[in-house]
Amino acid sequence: MNKKKVNLQKNKFVSSRSSKQKINKNKRTESSRKWISRQLNDPYVSEAQKRGFRSRSAFKLLQINEKFNLLKSGMSIIDLGCAPGGWLQVMSEEINKNSKGKIVGIDLLETDALPDVKILVGDINDQEIIDQVKIFFKGQKVNGVVSDMAADTTGHKPTDHIRTTMLLENAIEIAFDFLKKDGFFLGKCFKGGTEASVLNTLNNSFKTVKHVKPDASRKESVESYVLAMGFKQ
Ligand SMILES: C[S@@+](CC[C@H](N)C(=O)[O-])C[C@H]1O[C@@H](n2cnc3c(N)ncnc32)[C@H](O)[C@@H]1O
Repeated sequence: MNKKKVNLQKNKFVSSRSSKQKINKNKRTESSRKWISRQLNDPYVSEAQKRGFRSRSAFKLLQINEKFNLLKSGMSIIDLGCAPGGWLQVMSEEINKNSKGKIVGIDLLETDALPDVKILVGDINDQEIIDQVKIFFKGQKVNGVVSDMAADTTGHKPTDHIRTTMLLENAIEIAFDFLKKDGFFLGKCFKGGTEASVLNTLNNSFKTVKHVKPDASRKESVESYVLAMGFKQ
C-alpha cells in the first residue's frame, strides 16, 4: 500500500477542511485532485513525515523562531488552535531544553497527547476553557501566546477573511489577558483591509509589530502571520 496516502488520510489538520466546504461536486473533485497533487509534491509534507511532525505547519513556526528567536527554555506559552499539534511539538522541544517550561494547547478538535503539554478541547471563546488555562498557570502571566487558528473556509473570500480576522481578534484579547511584560504574540492573519484596526491595537500595546510570511507558508496562500513583541502591559 502507498505509505504517503495512508499518512495523508490520517492527517486531521489537512483533511478536516474539505468535508464542510459547500462547493459543487465537479469543482470539489477538481480541487481535491489539486490538493492531493500539491500534498504529494510538497517537500514540507514529506519532511514533516520524516521528522515525525504532526503537521507541515510545524515548519512555519520553526522558520519564524529561527528568524526571531522567540522560544526559550523555561517559557510558558498558550497555543490557540493547536491541533493536530505540530506547533506544540516544536515549542515543547524548545522550551523544555534546560529547564521545564509550561505549555497549554487549545483546540475544538482532539489533539493527541504530548509529554509536558496540557491539552484542552474546546472553543477559545468559552470562558470555562479560559478559566482552566488560568488554573493551569496558577494565575501567573505567560511569555507567549500563539495562534494558528483558521476558520473552516467557505470559498467566499470576504466571509473567510472576516471569520479569520475575528479569530485573530479573539486571540489578541486572550494575549492581553495573559501576557506578562515583554511577552510576545504570534497570530495567523489574512492579508487585506480589516487588518488595519488589528494592527493599530497591537501597535499601541507592543514595542514592535511586523508581518511574517515564512517560506513554509504557501506563496499562493493569503495566509500571513502577525508577530508582536515586547508587550507593554
Ligand atoms: C491550521 S490548524 C492549527 C495547526 C497547528 N498549529 C499545528 O501545527 O498542528 C487550525 C486549528 O484552529 C482550530 N480552531 C479554529 N477555531 C477555533 C476556536 N474557536 N477555538 C479553538 N480552536 C479553533 C481548528 O480546529 C484547527 O485545528
